[in-house]
This record gives sequence, C-alpha cells and structure tokens, in this order.
Amino acid sequence: MNATAEVPAGAAGQSWQRRWRESVMDTYGTPPLTLVSGHGADVVDADGRTYLDMVAGIAVNALGHAHPAVVEAVTRQVSTLGHTSNLVVNPRAVELAERLLALAGRDGRVFFCNSGAEATEAALKIARRTGRPGVVTAAGSFHGRTTGALALTGQPAKRAPFTPLIGDVSYVPYGDVEALRAATGPRTSAVLLEPVQGEGGVVPAPAGYLAAAQEVAEDAGALFVLDEVQTGVGRTGSWFAYQQDEVAPDVVTLAKGLGGGLPIGAVLAFGPAAALLTPGQHGSTFGGNPVSCAAALAVLDTIETENLLARAHDLGADLTTSMLALGHPLLHGVRGRGLLLAMVLARPLAHEVELAMRGRGVLVNAIASDVVRIAPPLILTDAQAHAFVTALALALDDASDASAATDATPATEAQPAAGALSAAQAPR
Ligand SMILES: Cc1ncc(COP(=O)(O)O)c(C=O)c1O
Repeated sequence: MNATAEVPAGAAGQSWQRRWRESVMDTYGTPPLTLVSGHGADVVDADGRTYLDMVAGIAVNALGHAHPAVVEAVTRQVSTLGHTSNLVVNPRAVELAERLLALAGRDGRVFFCNSGAEATEAALKIARRTGRPGVVTAAGSFHGRTTGALALTGQPAKRAPFTPLIGDVSYVPYGDVEALRAATGPRTSAVLLEPVQGEGGVVPAPAGYLAAAQEVAEDAGALFVLDEVQTGVGRTGSWFAYQQDEVAPDVVTLAKGLGGGLPIGAVLAFGPAAALLTPGQHGSTFGGNPVSCAAALAVLDTIETENLLARAHDLGADLTTSMLALGHPLLHGVRGRGLLLAMVLARPLAHEVELAMRGRGVLVNAIASDVVRIAPPLILTDAQAHAFVTALALALDDASDASAATDATPATEAQPAAGALSAAQAPR
C-alpha cells in the first residue's frame, strides 16, 4: 500500500467515526483517529494501536497523558469540592493566581476562564476599558474562534464567513516594526501579538521584535498584550515565552498547557491594566473552577520539580539538531522554540508526511501545506525523541516517493520561512 495513504481505522475506529459523523457537528470533518487511552507520550486508538503523541492535544498535555500528579490532584479535588462558581472564594483559584503572578515576577491580577478564546475575549474587554476602540494585531495570527477573538485573528479566510465582526482591527505583517508603528496611534487600545505564531505555522518573533512592539505600544499609550495560549507554561523553555525576550507585557493570556488537559484559561494583567475591569464587567461560571485549578497547580509543581523548563529547551535543541542532521532533501528547515517546533518542507507535502508518520505510529500535525508542527509533551523521553526522528527519516522518504510517483508540483509557499534554521544553523 502507498505509505502516505491513510491507514484505515479498524472496526472499532470505523464504528466511532460513523457515530461521530451522525452526532457531532461537522466543524472538524471526521477525524482519522479515535483515541481511547494514553500514558505518558503514548496514546492508544480504539483498535488497540499505540502511537507516539508528538502533538499532545495541540500543545495541551504538557505532562503527557494520565500523569500521576494531575490524576492525583484532580481526583482529590473533585472528591472534595468540584465546583463553586465565583459567588464564593475558591482557594485553589487564589493559590493558582498567586502562583502565576509569582512566576511572572510582577504584581498584578488574574482572571480565570476556560479556554484560549475566552482568554482573548477577556483581554479584549480589558483593552476596551481603556476607552479606545482599536486593536493592532498581526497577519497570520490566531487568537481563537469566538467572535471577538476571531476579529483579532489575522487569517481572513477564518473571519470571512462571520463578517461583520467588531471593526477597528489592523493586521500588520508579523515581525515588521515599522508597519506596527504606522498602524498604532491614539485610537489603539492594545497591540496584541503571539511570541511565536503557533497556528500561523510556528513562526517565532524575530529577535528584538517584541521589545520594539512594547515600545510602540507604550509610545501610543496602548496596552501591550501577549497571547501565550500556545507558548506559555514551559512550552518554549521558560514559564512564559516573553521572558526570553525580556519584555514586560501589560496583559498575558494563557490556556492550553496550563491545565495539563483540563480546560482552563487565564489572563494575567499587570500594573494599571489589572484594575481596568471592575465588578460586574466580566465573569465566567466555570472560570477558575477548583478542579481545573488543582490540575494547573499540579502541572506547575511538576514542571518545577522535574526541571521541565530546561528539558523543553534542551530537548527542543536536540530534536532540531537531529532532524536537520538527517540532511533530507524534503526537510528545508526547522523553526520554533523549545518544544514548539515546525519542520518546514521543501515541497507542499505536509499532509503526506503526517499520514506517513501516522502509518509509522507517530502523531504529528500538518499545519500548512509545507509545514509540520510538533508540540510533544514536555516529559518526552530521549528514547521517544529518538524514535520520532527515526520514523521521520522514513516518513520523509515515503512522502518524497509518493510525490515523485504523482508528479507533484513545486511548493509555492516553501520560502525560506522566517526563523527557520537550515542544517548549517542547527543549535549547538
Ligand atoms: C495563540 C492562541 N490563542 C488562542 C487560541 C484559542 O484557544 P482555544 O482553542 O482554547 O479557544 C489558540 C488555539 O490554538 C492559540 O494557539
């Protein structure tokens, strides 16, 4: 069989896919895989096949699957007090807020919600409270699917079916300081950026860009807001990716990795920005619920005790070096930070690479026609990293062979993408 053809699900998987098609709204298409269990960086499908999970629920399962610290914290909390609402003080939320502020090393306040999009919405409402109408964000950005977050998302195709959305949003080329300066002025409430554009193809901010963006925002009297939904909580090798750029945002959003698989979002606001929302202006029934907060506290504890920040940094560098050392003609470069990485292909064969990897028992994510993302659990072992690289060498061959057989056209998007390392630039 063609190594880049989808391996058909077994009987159990097919049955779940049929039931999904008939009952779950068709916003995702029908996924090719049904997962029923996981342990560490391994997941098992409905037919008993095991995969190495290099996607981690899209940068969510920072500690992998069924990590004992998360299981224990959630079990203890849900059997003690599962939900309270925000009509009462919830100690786990207080502890988590204190902890996040301590990790940021600054005084501020935290608002808890349940997802990345909700965190963007809260940040937008904070920005609105400045009394200014405009937001400047980046082309190619992704900030979520709710209508406010979508309005701020610099991907026209995602916005188009839902216009009109809130107006007064400028989308400037990511990394272009002068464009940012030109778009930012007295009407700007906030400059909103991702330290690494995740959904946009794992594009890291060029050196100095975030610092310049902070200055642009400050000069205009606007808030400097960083969306760390994908990059936060250790994913890039520091608690917050912005800490590597030595900037001081007014507002930071988190979600994904924070709950280690439990749904939670957080907005950290510092200085005067922390007081812009006042009682009655925002809220969430589930936001900061004790169970998700207990999970998040366990995630933060484990990252600290298992030294996973350094691990994310070092393993990301090792993986980059190993991928580039393959010297495969289809692998044009590798970019990203820590364990948020992308393989930039020389041809638009990302989907084929994803399929070939799945056929070889490894989950990766084709995020653009020529870009394959990996965001593995931070607890990935050296042996698992090695297994990934071994499978990749074979999958790149599979995809190249399949494309040769079908006379593939050259990539139009496979430019030497921003921030991509070539073999000569592999990290040491
Ligand atoms: C940077 C960023 N912001 C916001 C979101 C939206 O998060 P959620 O899907 O939890 O709403 C995402 C999701 O991919 C993201 O990567």
